[in-house]
Amino acid sequence: MSARIIDGRARAAELRAQIATEVGTLKSEHGWVPGLAVVLVGSDPASEVYVRMKGKATAEAGMAGFEHRLPSTVTQAALLDLIARLNADPAVHGILVQLPLPPQIDEAAVIDAIAIAKDVDGFHVQNAGRLATGQAAMVPCTPLGCLMLLRAELGSLEGRDALVIGRSNIVGKPMAQLLIRDSATVTVAHSRSRDLPGLCRRAEIVIAAVGRPRLVQGDWLKPGAVVIDVGVNRTPEGLVGDVDFEAARQVASAITPVPGGVGPMTIACLLANTLTAACRSAG
Ligand code: GUN
Repeated sequence: MSARIIDGRARAAELRAQIATEVGTLKSEHGWVPGLAVVLVGSDPASEVYVRMKGKATAEAGMAGFEHRLPSTVTQAALLDLIARLNADPAVHGILVQLPLPPQIDEAAVIDAIAIAKDVDGFHVQNAGRLATGQAAMVPCTPLGCLMLLRAELGSLEGRDALVIGRSNIVGKPMAQLLIRDSATVTVAHSRSRDLPGLCRRAEIVIAAVGRPRLVQGDWLKPGAVVIDVGVNRTPEGLVGDVDFEAARQVASAITPVPGGVGPMTIACLLANTLTAACRSAG
């Protein structure tokens, strides 16, 4: 079998075009546009790239972008002060603090200082709790993008065996919650799981989000599985995912490439969350 390659770039482009149309309508009919503030602390090269891509996507969607750069030596108080100002700014509908933050900063305290209605990353403890308890929540962008790709590929996820590899607050945990909400049967594995190949072989859906280059082998997969690779690992051979793509595509029925799979969906979902936040604030 040769797997269908899931084109995240194309799906993301469709979504971004839809969002741009809605932003255009808001602007022409109501005279305002959604605004997204992105906060970058320090100069981590990967974070710089992500922030630049997010800023570009915001502008292309017709939204207002506000970029705030702070030195890596910034104090917690100064960062919290900036967030308080963004919370109070009516032109800012979404706030994103790029992670990771330097060691002197309490990451959880910073995330939880963001107004939950402006928390377009969905990382605030109240948004995480709302998602876990089935209430309306701002949903983290990467797992939301993965869910959209899965639904497009499979239709209903009801009753399907899904394996999430990774238990981070950003991807693994919210991914598991979203799959449960869609009535999948969900297993969450991680670096300490005992029999990862065995767990994989039982899964119709594998979502790899552990940050270990090419961890998931082709012969770990159930034939016909749908594989979503969230990994972005920089190696001497270039950017690779958490899945051995060449081997996996011989076994899977569909698989996301790296790059061009999940990454573009994350950015499209960030714009979608910003538009949602903006519309809610107006309503
Ligand atoms: N760092 C890595 N991924 C993310 C993300 O989705 N949002 C933010 N804010 N920081 C990140």
